[in-house]
Amino acid sequence: MGHKLTPFITGETIRERIDVLGREIVQSYENNEEPLVCICVLKGAFLFFSDLIRRVDRPMEVDFVRLASYGSATSRSEDVIFSKDLEVPIEGKDVLVIEDIVDTGHSMDFLLHVLKRRNPKSLKICALIDKHERRETGVQVDFAGFNLSEGFIVGYGLDYAERYRELDGIYELSTDAGK
Ligand code: IMP
Ligand code: MG
Repeated sequence: MGHKLTPFITGETIRERIDVLGREIVQSYENNEEPLVCICVLKGAFLFFSDLIRRVDRPMEVDFVRLASYGSATSRSEDVIFSKDLEVPIEGKDVLVIEDIVDTGHSMDFLLHVLKRRNPKSLKICALIDKHERRETGVQVDFAGFNLSEGFIVGYGLDYAERYRELDGIYELSTDAGK
């Protein structure tokens, strides 16, 4: 059974959208001169993060977290752990979590709970893809690149079993079984 990749969002369209998102983020923190802590959620957000932070023209600190879900494949927040925690303290700071996709919201829900306990001044979410129609939690994305209601996508950091992260654009993945 093979996979079929159908072009969905080109690299050029992603970069255009990131220019706009970067300006929106700058605007929303313009009254604060303290560095914004930008957190990359590994692995999926690594390309989005590196492109986005270069369009957020303001002082910042960057750090990385990695979540791992164990137990069921349908990641419930109770089944999520850090496999890599932050290294910078966030108490009293503005924090922006930068994620690839918020789907059911369970992984983000877990992350927000952990980060809130560290008393940041503010905590916002930026996601490349917001699958808000599939949400099973109260998680809301503050800055969304694109909305998607259905389908599984890969490329531009997003994977299927660790494949396709290196692609410049985003593709819809389907199986070509039965064809
Ligand atoms: P959630 O906990 O259900 O919100 O799951 C979010 C995580 O599932 C994302 O960070 C991705 O790693 C993964 N994910 C959800 N949808 C897709 C997709 O269409 N392509 C690749 N990964 C996805
Ligand atoms: Mg992820």
